[in-house]
Amino acid sequence: MAGLIPQSFIQDLIARTDIVQVIGERLQLKKAGREYVALSPFTNEKSPSFYVSPQKQFYHCFSSGKHGTAITFLMEYDRLSFPEAVEDLAKRVGLTVPREGGSVAAPLVLEGPLDALAAAERIYKAELKKSPAAIEYLKQRGVSGETAKRFGIGFAPDGWDTISRQVPNPKHALDAGLLVKNEEGRVYDFYRARVMFPVRNVRGQIITFGGRVLPGSDDKRKYLNGRETPLFDKSRHLYGLYEARQGVGTIPHMLVVEGYMDVVMLSQHGIPHAVATMGTATTREHLNLLFKSTTRVVFCFDGDRAGRAAAWRALEQALPEAYEGRELLFMFLPDGHDPDTLVQEIGAEEFNRRVAQSQSLATFLVAELSRQVNLSTPDGRARLVVLARPHLARMREGALHSLILEELFKLTRMQRSDIEALVSAATSATPAGDAAAAQSLTSRPVRVALQLLLEHPSFNELVDDIGLLEESAAPGVELLVAALRWFRDRPEARAGALLEAWRETPEGPILDQLSIAPLELKPEAFEAEFTSKIKTLEEMATQRSLRERVQTILQAAETRALTAEERAEVDHINRKLSRRDSV
Ligand code: UTP
Ligand code: MN
Repeated sequence: MAGLIPQSFIQDLIARTDIVQVIGERLQLKKAGREYVALSPFTNEKSPSFYVSPQKQFYHCFSSGKHGTAITFLMEYDRLSFPEAVEDLAKRVGLTVPREGGSVAAPLVLEGPLDALAAAERIYKAELKKSPAAIEYLKQRGVSGETAKRFGIGFAPDGWDTISRQVPNPKHALDAGLLVKNEEGRVYDFYRARVMFPVRNVRGQIITFGGRVLPGSDDKRKYLNGRETPLFDKSRHLYGLYEARQGVGTIPHMLVVEGYMDVVMLSQHGIPHAVATMGTATTREHLNLLFKSTTRVVFCFDGDRAGRAAAWRALEQALPEAYEGRELLFMFLPDGHDPDTLVQEIGAEEFNRRVAQSQSLATFLVAELSRQVNLSTPDGRARLVVLARPHLARMREGALHSLILEELFKLTRMQRSDIEALVSAATSATPAGDAAAAQSLTSRPVRVALQLLLEHPSFNELVDDIGLLEESAAPGVELLVAALRWFRDRPEARAGALLEAWRETPEGPILDQLSIAPLELKPEAFEAEFTSKIKTLEEMATQRSLRERVQTILQAAETRALTAEERAEVDHINRKLSRRDSV
């Protein structure tokens, strides 16, 4: 197979790598005769039994029985794949990984921006050392020097050219989102006068930064998140994930918190498994990423109204991703606290105790819905079941489904068969519940397009490629596609016929709702609006498939070199995508 790493190279790499240095960056090593010892990272031991031998370029852990080379250590400790570990070590000693049956590995196209980001981290760290105000701020927030180091926290001074003056290649810094270009073509620093948090991908490469203003600044934006670039996609990346995955052993749960500082301070207090989204709600992609590292995800939100609303949005994203073997929990913090302040006040042990008491998804879902009804009346109880119905419809059937039915049963004390009948009955829909369902199940372009289509079924002729829309992955687009096809096959049909045809389906109430929802448009504008919404969805579909194409190519290239054609294609797509981003 092409792309295998030759055994001779591996031998050479091991010989050139200083295993003491590699492990010493991750564990506290002490010299003991010809060897070095440390507390085993694999067990919870009190006296050190982890030995590193520089002569043998080997480690041996007596308490766990694990042993191996620098490569196996990185695979265990940094959770890397074999090729990733080899790649990392090769980079340290300045070697290029050759591939059998292929050409010499060429540097990835994104190497330039990655280098610029790595350089920026060094610059920001050096600047932090020079800024008493920033140091004082971190101190006052309780961030220890060790924590600042672990997270690579730095400082971007107030100036327009800290980065552009110091990075080797400003073009790459521009592509990496460190610099921006104004209308006159002048290039200047994107982050100024901010405490800087580097954001890493799962391989530990810095892909963007988040920056926080110092108190007293007149910049009203407290946090500046990185702009989207070919390296950074806020719907796919999480702050702190790389750091949280460091170390060995299973990760019992991952906490999802709101802010950079929450992640940092939890870690400082010995709660290392926390991540934060960056200027976006949790997406389905985030969840899938988290479930690669753990079986349990705990959302941590403020206990106030805004926090519960955010939790509800997270729940809606999570429903389709919730199934057997994946546990989703919700934790609400006392008023006026975020994880950062709470852990400082109550300590890790008490914090963990509260994590252990978080609400299950089923409990939270039913509790939230029950706020909307009067449970003391039979009508209210029936309505609760009806409100739950669209949410049940969005989940894969299974254990969670029955847990929710169980919760409904507990609260309503209705007969199980009645609950099940209500869940599947479409006729008992309530307008308020279904309006909410229509909102949550469909994204705006889908909703508006559907509304207009119900108004004018002949608009289906304006769509060239109905199937393409599906690839936009916009929530609810399947329903739009189905409706377009349905009308295309029945040129005489009007909205009523379609509503009738859908009546017994889970989407029936949504269509009912959309058919009566007001359109804030003059009839003359209907066609243009419809076309524009379809365009939006087509654009989303194209972008998505371009992104996926890049991912596929880059993934394949983790174990072999990119061919010249692939490289050209990735370059081309990246240029296309960044052009889009900038308009
Ligand atoms: P918060 O504003 O809730 O954080 O923002 P906080 O806890 O009060 O911040 P500190 O503790 O004073 O530093 C939480 C998250 O929301 C995003 C950031 O990702 C931030 O970490 N955010 C906040 C922004 O994107 N922009 C903002 O202006 C503010
Ligand atoms: Mn905070």
